[in-house]
Amino acid sequence: MSTQLKGKVAIVTGAGQGIGKAIALDLASNGATVLVTDLDYKSAQQTSALISTNSECMQVDVANLDQVQKMIDTCLQKFSKLDILINNAGVTRFIDIMGVTVEDWDLIHSVNAKGTFFAMQFAAKQMIEAKISGNIINIASIAGKGWHGSSNAAYAASKGAIIAMTTLAAQQLGPYGIRVNAVCPGTTQTGLLDRIIDSIAESQGVKSSEVRKSPSRTSPTGRDSTPEDIASMVTFLVGPGASNITGQAINVDGGLISH
Ligand SMILES: NC(=O)c1ccc[n+]([C@@H]2O[C@H](COP(=O)([O-])OP(=O)(O)OC[C@H]3O[C@@H](n4cnc5c(N)ncnc54)[C@H](O)[C@@H]3O)[C@@H](O)[C@H]2O)c1
Repeated sequence: MSTQLKGKVAIVTGAGQGIGKAIALDLASNGATVLVTDLDYKSAQQTSALISTNSECMQVDVANLDQVQKMIDTCLQKFSKLDILINNAGVTRFIDIMGVTVEDWDLIHSVNAKGTFFAMQFAAKQMIEAKISGNIINIASIAGKGWHGSSNAAYAASKGAIIAMTTLAAQQLGPYGIRVNAVCPGTTQTGLLDRIIDSIAESQGVKSSEVRKSPSRTSPTGRDSTPEDIASMVTFLVGPGASNITGQAINVDGGLISH
């Protein structure tokens, strides 16, 4: 166990499973205190229970801005400050561009883009007032850079929005000592990926295993990322070794795309 984040207080959204869970556990194993939040309270509780450092959990729907504000307020009440915000919660479903409905668009953008933007704004307000040189990481996706295998175009647009808001936030929050970066996972072994693969297989009338090994989805490293691959990049970016890195959108994708 490293102590590089000892004394730091972090919030992770969507941390009940998948990538968010791995991030919460990795931050904690590097010494951070973690407020574990998720739409699904039970899963947030389960992640929090795995953390041996200081941790609390709460139910938060990031699309509900009252709940997002309450998440920041709860962090301050329980832990007196906020150093690190990880905007991880995100949703998608596999669907062709012609099938995207207004309901799909609104859900995806209210969780992925709106939730990320305002959590970032509310967190930055606290960091500026408390003169904390904080860190914000937004989990985007290589979908936001136009990867051809993305689950749907509305999702790609929401992740592109996250990359753009990360750049602007880094520029405008840099003078306060706050760094803002995005991490762009490629295909990563989680429930979200399983659901997408199953939907693609169903639409093509083939087995999920065939979709997984199709050449167009295979990365140069020959494997999907693990949630822990994403988490270790996040921990690096919020740590002292990345103190001059901001405004970046860094791929962790086994080389699926090169920009
Ligand atoms: N798995 C991949 O291949 C992949 C690739 C690129 C980007 N991502 C991104 O990584 C992030 C995590 O994805 P994952 O694969 O771990 O997904 P997942 O579905 O396995 O887990 C997502 C978690 O977010 C929670 N959540 C959903 N809606 C929420 C809301 N409104 N408010 C709060 N929490 C909510 C869910 O309850 C769940 O615990 C997402 O932003 C996703 O877009 C994933």
